[in-house]
Amino acid sequence: MGKIILTGDRPTGKLHLGHYVGSLRRRVELQNSGQFEKIFVMIADAQALTDNADNPEKVRQNIVEVALDYLSAGLDPERSTLFIQSQVPELCELAFYYMNLVTVQRLQRNPTVKAEIQLRGFAENNAEEEETAAQQRPGTPVGFFTYPISQASDITAFRATTVPAGEDQEPMIEQTREIVHKFNSVYGETLVEPEILLPDNAACLRLPGTDGKAKMSKSLGNCIYLSDSADEVKKKVMTMFTDPDHLRVEDPGKVEGNTVFTYLDAFSRPEHFPKYLPDYASLDELKAHYRRGGLGDVKVKRFLIAVLNETLEPIRERRRYFEQRIEEVYAVLRTGSEQARREAAQTLNDVRRAMRIDYFEDGELIASQAEAYKNKA
Ligand code: TRP
Repeated sequence: MGKIILTGDRPTGKLHLGHYVGSLRRRVELQNSGQFEKIFVMIADAQALTDNADNPEKVRQNIVEVALDYLSAGLDPERSTLFIQSQVPELCELAFYYMNLVTVQRLQRNPTVKAEIQLRGFAENNAEEEETAAQQRPGTPVGFFTYPISQASDITAFRATTVPAGEDQEPMIEQTREIVHKFNSVYGETLVEPEILLPDNAACLRLPGTDGKAKMSKSLGNCIYLSDSADEVKKKVMTMFTDPDHLRVEDPGKVEGNTVFTYLDAFSRPEHFPKYLPDYASLDELKAHYRRGGLGDVKVKRFLIAVLNETLEPIRERRRYFEQRIEEVYAVLRTGSEQARREAAQTLNDVRRAMRIDYFEDGELIASQAEAYKNKA
């Protein structure tokens, strides 16, 4: 059987470099490798609404932004099905049935959900806290709490074997595998167990924000967006966090935890050196000089700016093209959503049959019950 990809993003903002190295770049490579039978890339608007119930307009406006980012990054609607989650209602029905296979306790142990509940301030996070403060917290929306189950529907509906995603999605894939396992053992072999495909380099696994904080996040204002201009990229890199103890050029510097070097780990390629920094043959040489001392931050930053802008320029160029064709972008999403719906409907049929809720399809059921009652009469 051929390999199938499903992955996606929440439309809560434009996509940034963390999205790019964490998953998007890989998807484009996999798409172009021709090794996959089908590729589905989903704009997860229904999932975005699980913690944005009061802000539907944000989600609505960001659909096109994410679609533009996808197309600009090189996803090709001829080879990948781009679709909107909410336009495939079959996914909700699957989730409703999967809910019976997962316990509240298991969801409570999901590390990503746990961290997100804290981050969003839904639940109490410390025992010493004033009781009134704890009471004032909004509580965790049920839809949000159960989104890992909805994500299992997203993945299994398309019989995905492979989910290219960031590290934070690992618990979701694990949970999906458990649901698949449980479903198949209760109702018979029906669903496909997926695998996560993580970035192969540590810098890409979790790209820090420009401020050196653990993760790029819109609310922290530490993102470089795929749609940023060359000038914005330059400004952001120039203010980037480096080694706070590297005060003078002569001082030895630290490369670990130095955001500029982490970004170089994620983005630089050997051919960038002869082009933009011919005094060094490789990133290892550059790092060695920085460690010894005598290499200033600005020189390294200028190199990073060149590398990032070389990477982003073709993406910007495609964006400019698609920005002038918004109707076409929506047409791509509509066609993709229709196609996704047909795929999901097939899986849903299999699920209904396996769960024995396919009453009207089952002539045997009707005939045997009719027969039994006739014999009784
Ligand atoms: N949880 C993902 C995110 O926050 C989005 C998503 C929804 C997803 N369903 C998915 C990712 C299925 C991979 C597979 O970005």
